[in-house]
Amino acid sequence: MKKAPKFVEGGSPAPESILWLLLTGEYPDQSQLADLKLDMRERSRIPQETVNLIKSFPKDMHPMSQLSMGMLALQPMSTFAQHYRQGVSKGKYWEAMFDDCINVVSKVSTVAALIFNNCYNDGKDLPEIDANSDYAAAFAQMIGYNTEEMYELMRLYIVIHMDHEGGNVSAHSCRLAGSALSDPYLSFSSCMNGLAGPLHGLANQECLRWYLEFREKYGKHWNHDDIKEHLKYTLDSGKVVPGFGHAVLRKTDPRFTHQLEFGLKNFPEDNLIQLVKACHDIIPVELPKLKASVANPFPNVDAASGALLMHFGINQFDFYTVLFGVSRSFGVMSALLWDRALGLPIERPNSVTVEGLRALCEEKSKQ
Ligand code: MLT
Repeated sequence: MKKAPKFVEGGSPAPESILWLLLTGEYPDQSQLADLKLDMRERSRIPQETVNLIKSFPKDMHPMSQLSMGMLALQPMSTFAQHYRQGVSKGKYWEAMFDDCINVVSKVSTVAALIFNNCYNDGKDLPEIDANSDYAAAFAQMIGYNTEEMYELMRLYIVIHMDHEGGNVSAHSCRLAGSALSDPYLSFSSCMNGLAGPLHGLANQECLRWYLEFREKYGKHWNHDDIKEHLKYTLDSGKVVPGFGHAVLRKTDPRFTHQLEFGLKNFPEDNLIQLVKACHDIIPVELPKLKASVANPFPNVDAASGALLMHFGINQFDFYTVLFGVSRSFGVMSALLWDRALGLPIERPNSVTVEGLRALCEEKSKQ
């Protein structure tokens, strides 16, 4: 994070620079970064029929369903699908994939902003964006935010949600579909369908709900004992504490730490940020005392993101997963491009018969 090129000195990494890193293994220099920024701005346009399609979606359809369909509607633009039909050789797959992958990342923020306006702004047209705007600043402007502080949050948000390893449901869904040579638009739509699940990308809104429910109960003058009490109440009600624990991490998620640091640096007086900090101090100590079986009591990426978005007035909870999806495009599209460049085969796990399972159990029981 520290070494990544930035648009603001000492600020958040430029998402474009991390995309370059994921594709090449190196950070871009300032002139390469400026070129990529302009190229992605140009590629961000989408055809009028897709704009019309998104505007035709019912306002109350979940924004993630709109995102999946909006990206699928762009599939006729796929260079890979076109080249494949024309019989391109395997060794050249990556060239067409490159075009598609950069296009998916560039266009998804426009699709997301149209969905935002469709759901929450009476289908308003998107504003004209300065051609020189970077990805995160342009996205913030498209959904109605024009401050440098918001641009910095968006840059950070996008970078930390790109992907931290390919085993999560969304990244794996993308790879799985892509392994059948489904083009990047088809694969990305699968990725979004996985991200839309409550155990995955939808968790960030659950987490914010938990903090808000706490504040509703204890007011703004809460103390540490209130947090312990609410933690116990949550567990006694048979629920989990959203935002704490992770499928593979066994320590505080560094993505949580970066977000908390951003909040403490820029708006330390914000009551929700203070609550996030207090929960980070208290829950990992108290949770194992109440639930001995817990494998990881530490906060994950979702435990801070909602509080930061709320600070800026983004209170459309259903849209949070779309923000996650825009960010994830950077990670999964880079990985997909590499899969095709390396010629990875179709994914096809073996099926297991009942007899096979019985034999396995018998063998295990003897050990
Ligand atoms: C993610 O970034 O996708 C989440 O941390 C979930 C996961 O890794 O399984």
